[in-house]
Amino acid sequence: MTEPGWSWDSTLYAGSAVFYTVGRVAYPPELADRLADALHLDGSGRLLDVGCGPGSLTLPMARFFAEVVGIDADPEMLAEAARQADRAGITNVTWSCLRGEQLPAGIPVPSVVTFAQSFHWMDRNRVAARVRHMLADGGAVVHVGATTHEGIDTHEQLPHPRPRRAAIRTLIREFLGETRRAGQSALPNGETPGGEAGPRRCRSLSGLIVCC
Ligand SMILES: C[S@@+](CC[C@H](N)C(=O)[O-])C[C@H]1O[C@@H](n2cnc3c(N)ncnc32)[C@H](O)[C@@H]1O
Repeated sequence: MTEPGWSWDSTLYAGSAVFYTVGRVAYPPELADRLADALHLDGSGRLLDVGCGPGSLTLPMARFFAEVVGIDADPEMLAEAARQADRAGITNVTWSCLRGEQLPAGIPVPSVVTFAQSFHWMDRNRVAARVRHMLADGGAVVHVGATTHEGIDTHEQLPHPRPRRAAIRTLIREFLGETRRAGQSALPNGETPGGEAGPRRCRSLSGLIVCC
């Protein structure tokens, strides 16, 4: 870890994997289609999704590649990802319990590397350098930044009552205090060190697409 104040903590996501698929708003299906258009994906090539979690982006992207590898530091996330893949009948993805910092770890050359709300947890300089060396000529890196896991507020009629976000935030503050927690440590500014700088540091990578 080159940045002081943060290193991988195995309690960070402990117990949360099964709630991801039901408790977080999924990426809009258009995201995968837009990426496929922008990157001229044709069903060939290999996707590497780093910090794949329960496969939230890995699985919608899988049909655009011949082969997909999802890696994550949290084994429970990978178990949930494999369950979701089975449920969806997706068979071209392999899952590997690895930290981004351990890449390339014998993974064959990817044509696209994605980070979906995961890069900010990593040693960004190290991971960006490793990914750069792994990537196929003309390949692309996609960074899906902090987006809409709470959904976007609209006036649309929803099938269920809207989540009471303000009340939930108050409850969290009441039990956990003002400072945002992250596993065993705290994020006083709500971010790991270097937060916003991540994508900027990666600009030297070829074909960087940032979706925020
Ligand atoms: C906010 S979740 C996002 C999961 C998924 N990509 C999504 O879009 O829903 C962040 C994920 O990054 C993983 N992660 C955090 N630090 C990591 C690291 N250094 N190497 C690999 N995975 C990491 C966590 O275990 C978690 O599954």
